[in-house]
Amino acid sequence: MASFEESTVPQIADQFQKLVDDFFAVQCRYESAIRQVKTKLENLDAEFQMRHRRNPIHHMQTRLKLQRKQLPVTMDAAISFLTDIAGVRVICSYLDDIYTVARLLLQQDDVRLIRTRDYIREPKENGYRSLHLIIQVPIYLSVGKLFVPVEVQIRTIAMDFWATLEHQLRYKAIPTIPASISDELVQTATDIALLDQRMQRIHDQVDDLKREFVSDKPSPQDTADPAQQPGTP
Ligand code: GTP
Ligand code: MG
Repeated sequence: MASFEESTVPQIADQFQKLVDDFFAVQCRYESAIRQVKTKLENLDAEFQMRHRRNPIHHMQTRLKLQRKQLPVTMDAAISFLTDIAGVRVICSYLDDIYTVARLLLQQDDVRLIRTRDYIREPKENGYRSLHLIIQVPIYLSVGKLFVPVEVQIRTIAMDFWATLEHQLRYKAIPTIPASISDELVQTATDIALLDQRMQRIHDQVDDLKREFVSDKPSPQDTADPAQQPGTP
């Protein structure tokens, strides 16, 4: 292919059109992958609600971060190595829900795990906590099946509160944050982690009480009038 310098105006127009087409084709693939992952998670949440009468997923956010400068020479190269373009953030109610959601997602046989980063067991130095998974999911195109990477971040409402505010603070227009402030930010993350643990314990206790309550309740059979039982003399 001629370089832009050597090209004539119609050639440049063609090359530009090809770049635009490639860009939208890549975008479309990542969008499909996001929808696949979101649907999988919605289905898991619905089934969990049916079985346990509550939702482990509080809400979700999706993002597509495709910039022209990220677009490599070929589309297939983009799809195989750019893992942080498509993102799904899953905000859970409780700590344990994070690992339940991750396990249920990863046990699906069309989900390929590429990488796990557990910033809950090992928080980042600044206090950031979340479970990060890079997975690949299949999308079905007219030309066949393609595995597309998606970054899944799973965290509690409390971790999300911290990460959202920390992100905003980081983009405040000052060159460096003084150590006293960043130390305090780390401390807030630790406080939040303790709150998450307390909320988990409260939830577990309420769950135990609910189970006891249900098992103490006489079953319809226990309360039925024996005279009404079929086959009773
Ligand atoms: P590497 O790519 O190997 O460095 O690790 P990673 O992909 O697990 O983390 P990375 O630093 O690339 O961050 C991925 C995403 O996680 C970011 O786009 C953010 O959404 C989120 N994230 C990571 N670290 C922080 C943090 O310190 N604060 C906040 N608010 N978000 C973070
Ligand atoms: Mg990364």
